[in-house]
Amino acid sequence: MKKKLSQSKSSKLNALLIEADTIKKQIRQETLNQNELEKKYFSKKGLFSILSKQMSSIPIEDKPMAGKVINHLKNDLKEYIENLSDKSFDPLIRQAKIDLTVPGKKPNVGHTHPISQAIAEITKIFERIGFIRVRYPEVDWDWYTFGSLNMPTDHPARDEWETFFVNQPAHPKKGKIVLTPHTSNGQVREMERVGKPPIRMINIARCYRRQQDVTHTQMFHQFEGLVIDKDINIQHLKGTIDYFAREFYGPDAKSRIRPFHFKFTEPSFEVDFSCHICGGSGYLIDEHSKEKTRCRFCKSGWHEVGGAGMVHPNVLKAGGIDPEEYTGFAFGWGIERTYTLREGLNIDDIRLLYSSKLNFLQQF
Ligand code: DAH
Repeated sequence: MKKKLSQSKSSKLNALLIEADTIKKQIRQETLNQNELEKKYFSKKGLFSILSKQMSSIPIEDKPMAGKVINHLKNDLKEYIENLSDKSFDPLIRQAKIDLTVPGKKPNVGHTHPISQAIAEITKIFERIGFIRVRYPEVDWDWYTFGSLNMPTDHPARDEWETFFVNQPAHPKKGKIVLTPHTSNGQVREMERVGKPPIRMINIARCYRRQQDVTHTQMFHQFEGLVIDKDINIQHLKGTIDYFAREFYGPDAKSRIRPFHFKFTEPSFEVDFSCHICGGSGYLIDEHSKEKTRCRFCKSGWHEVGGAGMVHPNVLKAGGIDPEEYTGFAFGWGIERTYTLREGLNIDDIRLLYSSKLNFLQQF
């Protein structure tokens, strides 16, 4: 009998515990706002008051325990209601069911910058004929940039390079530090790295010059080729340039070299590629009137892309290579310039490439 009595007491308590637990869980499913929840749970006829009323029917020995449970529940509910942020009251969010099996949305992935694409392509073109892509500092000593290239300090030829000098103490032998204005600084560095020819280098890097207009940006890229071996001559240079023109611009592209002067090559040339708009003729013929006008893209049938030449003996010597035994050729061209001459691009302001304008960049 005694046992039966205590069982019935604890079952009342048990029922209260279960109900308290249900209320605690239930509030988390609600889509009501703070005021509405307050009313639903704590008004006179609210769920919490109904539960509290059951206290009277709880046997006396279970009352302390039941009181504790009800107090805890009250605190929990109050805290929960207070902490709800406005956003979590958006009924749509709170009602939303998450379907974990729905395939995720792919984040937007961009693509490489057109100049990075050009760099990758140029690298492959030269690698196919045995050139090795190397990288040399883009902030370098005066010695590699000018001195070792047969341009002694204060030589006026240096003026061409519109150089940014870095405000740092000069090295006793290698001189000042510069932002490289061309990739030719890789020439003697490559000779030092390889030691004994053969050398077939393609050095691609950022360059900097104090110039900014439709055809120049203060930061730009160049690619520098250097080949040194026994019996290397101008035909190897011209053959390499022709090969590049065909691979990069298409089978009909032609190249030409014109005499020029660089201190680090002898003889030196400027390199042009034929204009794809007028096919190298320099003239356009109107389809209807058959009128002949000057091609406004090139004016002469050709576009200049950069320089080239046979490596000067003094440069070979600076790199520890005997000019009696070895000869070599070198070339250095701007990537932006080379790239924007491609058929179909017609980019007449290279600053666009670095403008970060997505609607421009997304076209590539
Ligand atoms: N470095 C030269 C420039 O930036 C281009 C150049 C000319 C590179 C002749 C060479 C070369 O390797 O042989 O204008």
